[in-house]
Amino acid sequence: MKRRNMTTALVGAFVLAGFLQTSCAPAPKQAAEPQEENNQVIETIMARRSVRKYKDQPVEREKLQQIVTCGINAPSGMNLQPWEVRVVDNADYINGITELFKAANPKQAEDPNFKNMFRNAPAVIFIASPADGSGQLDCGLLGENIILAAQSLGLGTCCLGGPVGFMKKGAEAAPYVERLKLPEDYQLLYAIAVGYPDETPDAKPRKAEKVLFVE
Ligand SMILES: Cc1cc2nc3c(=O)[nH]c(=O)nc-3n(C[C@H](O)[C@H](O)[C@H](O)COP(=O)(O)O)c2cc1C
Repeated sequence: MKRRNMTTALVGAFVLAGFLQTSCAPAPKQAAEPQEENNQVIETIMARRSVRKYKDQPVEREKLQQIVTCGINAPSGMNLQPWEVRVVDNADYINGITELFKAANPKQAEDPNFKNMFRNAPAVIFIASPADGSGQLDCGLLGENIILAAQSLGLGTCCLGGPVGFMKKGAEAAPYVERLKLPEDYQLLYAIAVGYPDETPDAKPRKAEKVLFVE
């Protein structure tokens, strides 16, 4: 290879390596150095709270892509990856289904902070699992990866079961479920609201007594 071509190839490889490191691509095979102080993973986990108030600011598609890529890098039993993931940042979709939700739940929409049924977020990620009830544990792990990756990028999230209950219950929301184009043998399991946080909620108390060391 000529020297100029070699330089171009090396620069290209360097840029690609940088991209892969900042995206959610699998990291190179090496054990992480134990990090007792300033551990960013632990800080991210402990700083995360469910956010229900978001800025009027769309989430960049690149960031949405990055967090769902982290999601599908979660472990799954026998690597079956029993999930379907749908990212919706379309205001027409979110506002359209919210109108149906408001008609069915007028009390919830009375809240002056109410913007939409997905805890007011500008984007929502739907997670579906096999209709036979399998894969739910795997889907939970996928979701936590998404949630923590989002937190690390300065995004807020809220795991949501309620809105999915509404979508699965009545016929009125069926056209919105159809738009998700899930395989026949999959059903919606839960959703994750995503957006730039406009609140910093305090941590809710945890039941530390539920954890025991067994001697
Ligand atoms: C499976 C699941 C379903 C949830 N559904 C809702 C929901 O429908 N609406 C909501 O506002 N929060 C929902 N949450 C968020 C919980 O209320 C929240 O995680 C919990 O109160 C602890 O607060 P934290 O997330 O700030 O630590 C859900 C969380 C989980 C794990």
